[in-house]
Amino acid sequence: MPINTCVFDAYGTLFDVAAAARQAASEPACAAIKDCWPQLANHWRLKQLQYSWLRAITGAHTDFWEVTRDGLDWALDAAGLTGDPALRQRLLDLYWELQAYPEVPAMLKALKASGKQTAILSNGSPDMLDGAVQSAGLGAVLDDVLSVESVGIFKPDRRVYDLVGQRFGCAPDEVLFVSSNGWDAAAAAGYGFRTAWVNRAGEPVDRLPWTPDIILSDLTGIPDLAEA
Ligand code: LAC
Repeated sequence: MPINTCVFDAYGTLFDVAAAARQAASEPACAAIKDCWPQLANHWRLKQLQYSWLRAITGAHTDFWEVTRDGLDWALDAAGLTGDPALRQRLLDLYWELQAYPEVPAMLKALKASGKQTAILSNGSPDMLDGAVQSAGLGAVLDDVLSVESVGIFKPDRRVYDLVGQRFGCAPDEVLFVSSNGWDAAAAAGYGFRTAWVNRAGEPVDRLPWTPDIILSDLTGIPDLAEA
């Protein structure tokens, strides 16, 4: 079946999640993370994701903003920075205005020009996603922004991937699902989507029962892939 719908993970895929720590580290008021920001960003992201999976498998759902705050608190604790509430607040504020990767606007515009439906499917809460989409100026090139909050469980639960067919009326093999998270791309492949894993960091393939159809180093090839 030809692809008629292109669906994107948000954090790490369209939006650069390290940008909050990178930006804060360049500001005099946040000098405490000037050197350690890469590890802080890494811990923040890892804990945010681990907490999302743990909450999903234990039935203890909360929204992604709480999981994001909890992940940051762990990361600040690990860096010995729990006594700096202004730093914490600055990092959280920056998470609402993450930059999109540079190729994102033109890539989404090309998909729309070729008649594809485009959407985000994300763990993010609707207000977080709205902030990121507005701040990156992507509202006009996305047909919808789908949040896990409408099913109350995080990825990779299948009910999250079900949201795409429910919204667009398409079959799984008419969907190109794009994620920078290897586990998300793999699970989406298991669900039946056609999948691209955007592996910017050159990480090893996740050892899971499913594998993404294609591995890319950035998003520039997506419009051609959607036509293939
Ligand atoms: C998301 C996370 C997993 O946007 O990156 O769903």
